[in-house]
Amino acid sequence: MVDLKLFNASPVIDARSEEQPFEFFSNCPSLGQKRHSSHIPATDRVRKDSRYVKTFRDPRYSTLENEDLVEFKKIVGDTGVLTEAFELEAANTDWLKKYFGSSKVLLRPTSTQQVSEILKYCNARKLAVVPQGGNTGLVGGSVPVFDEVVLSLGAMNKIVLFDELNGILVCEAGCILENLDNYLLEKGYMMPLDFGAKGSCQIGGNISTNAGGVHLLRYGSLRANVLGLEIVLANGEVIDSLRTLRKDNTGYDLKQLFIGAEGTLGVVTKVSILTPPRLSSKNVAFLSCGSFVDCQKILKEAKSRLGEILSAFEFMDRHALDMVLKHSGKSRDPLPASKHTFYLLVETTGSFQNHDREKLDKFLEACMENGLVADGVVAQDNQQFTSFWHLREGVTEALSKEGAVYKYDLSIPVPHLYSVVEDLQKRLGDLAIVMGYGHLGDGNLHLNISTPQYDEKILALIEPFVYEWTASHEGSVSAEHGLGFMKADAIYYSKSPELVQWMAKFKQIFDSNGILNPYKVLPPSALKETSPSY
Ligand code: FAD
Ligand code: MLT
Ligand code: ZN
Repeated sequence: MVDLKLFNASPVIDARSEEQPFEFFSNCPSLGQKRHSSHIPATDRVRKDSRYVKTFRDPRYSTLENEDLVEFKKIVGDTGVLTEAFELEAANTDWLKKYFGSSKVLLRPTSTQQVSEILKYCNARKLAVVPQGGNTGLVGGSVPVFDEVVLSLGAMNKIVLFDELNGILVCEAGCILENLDNYLLEKGYMMPLDFGAKGSCQIGGNISTNAGGVHLLRYGSLRANVLGLEIVLANGEVIDSLRTLRKDNTGYDLKQLFIGAEGTLGVVTKVSILTPPRLSSKNVAFLSCGSFVDCQKILKEAKSRLGEILSAFEFMDRHALDMVLKHSGKSRDPLPASKHTFYLLVETTGSFQNHDREKLDKFLEACMENGLVADGVVAQDNQQFTSFWHLREGVTEALSKEGAVYKYDLSIPVPHLYSVVEDLQKRLGDLAIVMGYGHLGDGNLHLNISTPQYDEKILALIEPFVYEWTASHEGSVSAEHGLGFMKADAIYYSKSPELVQWMAKFKQIFDSNGILNPYKVLPPSALKETSPSY
């Protein structure tokens, strides 16, 4: 029999955590926050992403003039038009501080009508527009590439209705994910998606990126949970598909085109979403194991033994864990006795604690008996629950504190998922720290390469190697972050030229002047083939 005492953890948070509350996202850019360096030299942009070299401002777009500001003020009022350098600096800079635009204006509409009037005006004037939510995107999709007008949805943050019987929430696109989750807490429900940026990202941004997160394994993707959308097209036309029905097979499901469109087809202004009941019993185990093959076997055990209560199955390698331990200052290694190559975070959520805990213990026993798990610990209270999750969710911020990070978000069939990390480790040797973490239960690897500063030579060793590797293993170059600016050219590694052409045709239908989020998702060459005006 396995000695279950192994799984009774001593507290893993050190005393400092009680004095200093967690602030995972303290450096998230938000409106009005001042930042350094309003002028980013062109060479810096290029060093951080070589796509800047190949991307030229499309001369079809007009340049902002004073008269445009006068018109914008007529639509959103003086307070809705921001032009001060310090106000624009955050909006021009992405979360990774890797992508920099030079927009001269940020608009803050408060209603769908205002969004419609803004877009109608911009379309007629051929002013390019970048829709912006919480600006937590990781692929340079939410910031201008040149001088696009920033259309911020942050002031559209009202809850429209909540159907307590069916758990259906209707709200505006600018609602912050965590605020929605807190609102639902009082009603006994929760948002079906959750991830580290929840304190800043907005539901409109989540839908536009088709964000995944840690609970996709349990609740499915946004494509399954979004029941309806209100969208404003580039010409100002409002598409109202804001239904609250679970089932509706009356023709084409147009809203699906806008989920994951990254602001290139329309602006999401309202959302109707199915929310699951918030269950009372939660457990989380933090496990170590020696090989990636064992991680896969544990995943299989988890699926079959935990069944319906399994709510997250996350993994990280030792490099990722070390990165959080180095930079968070709040957590310590829950399994300090020995170092292992892989760590797993297994969460269960159910309605009866004794039953759930018994199932979890049986699962852990089986994994120990089979020699799959080297060491493990189960959270004993809420504080430990949070701190285990911080070890996994804190990697992103820790990496950004370490220095430059080359970030890849890949879907790879699980048996091969970690091999790309090992191959890249061999390829880069001492030049970088190469690590892997992610949503193992969904076959989603976050491959991250950390170096002191950005270096074109290192980038040339990583790309196109990573994309070619992924394509040759039948994977996808974007599992959940999207293509944005960073990966628009990489689309062909995951989609055939014919499929890209179909996408360009849809873009042409919904945004014939191409004003919405240019240079993102589809490479300009693909759009040129479809529309001679490009
Ligand atoms: P933004 O970053 O502002 O925008 C993202 C894209 O959507 C842009 O192309 C933008 O133009 C468009 N957009 C935004 N709002 C609208 C709108 N209303 N209408 C039309 N287009 C719009 N992502 C995951 O999928 N899973 C994770 O686990 C995850 N974890 C993260 C952890 C951290 C610490 C960070 C910083 C990011 C993480 N992300 C994750 C990435 C990011 O948070 C998500 O992509 C998120 O959904 C973006 O939401 P946002 O409101 O910040 O959108
Ligand atoms: C995560 O799962 O932690 C996020 O997608 C962010 C990242 O890839 O770093
Ligand atoms: Zn992720």
